[in-house]
Amino acid sequence: MSVPAQAGARERLAEVVPDAIAALHEVLERHRVTEEEWYAVLRFLTEVGRQDEFVLLSDVTRTSVLIDAMTHGGDDSGATASDVEGPLYRDDPPWRERPVKIYEDYEGMGDGDVLFVRGRVTSTDGTLLRDAVVDVWQTGPDGGYDLWDPRQPAYNFRGRFRVDESGAYEFQTMVPKPYTVPTDGPVGRYLEAIGQHPWRPAHIHFKVTADGHAPLVTQVFFPDDPYLEDDTIGAVKSALVRPLAKHDDDGEIAGRGLDRPFFTCDFDVVLRPQAKA
Ligand code: BEZ
Ligand code: FE
Repeated sequence: MSVPAQAGARERLAEVVPDAIAALHEVLERHRVTEEEWYAVLRFLTEVGRQDEFVLLSDVTRTSVLIDAMTHGGDDSGATASDVEGPLYRDDPPWRERPVKIYEDYEGMGDGDVLFVRGRVTSTDGTLLRDAVVDVWQTGPDGGYDLWDPRQPAYNFRGRFRVDESGAYEFQTMVPKPYTVPTDGPVGRYLEAIGQHPWRPAHIHFKVTADGHAPLVTQVFFPDDPYLEDDTIGAVKSALVRPLAKHDDDGEIAGRGLDRPFFTCDFDVVLRPQAKA
């Protein structure tokens, strides 16, 4: 994830940081935090940095959701709702050609359902965005990202692709499953210590870009997930929950080159025009 340089960053720093420190001092005083406890905090934060878990810490403390809401919450342009990126995006995912399929089967792969996700990318005024690029990442039927699962080929369940001439896209994937955020590092210890479970509902991450439009980072969720109301990072938005439709007609199954029922999920994406700098 890249963080954009901001104009006036020095002024913002001078404005925000002293306030943040004053708020921290107030909490330390109110709880009479001891020297020993404070050094334990510093050791914890050092380890969070060493293990590259600051984004994860921001996510599980729901700070990322707060920042997303403050950054995009006031957007009444009709654009698709944004959502947090999380720490598991990989730069330079492979380009996938049509018909787009974002995974390969692998040894020991669990049973799962094939899913076709499809939609159109438009501007807020309805114009089709024929140059849009869609970039997706998700876990597979075993509930693990490629990064954690040595059985999976690199970049499995990831990919980017261009929409077609009508601004439409479709990709073949598998219905993802709920999974736990990484628990083997300092953030995992923190979650255990405060009694917060590490589960996220099943979801698919999207980054969508098109010329002259603000990039959109978001996630799609599915109904009836046990963690929909209780996401450990609190990132579920009702506007981003999309039904899955089951297809069990033999002709349709054969037409897709499959041997068992499959699912579809419709997700149209609307991007907001970006003011020219
Ligand atoms: C994710 O959805 O990929 C994710 C979000 C927050 C923390 C860890 C993982
Ligand atoms: Fe995820």
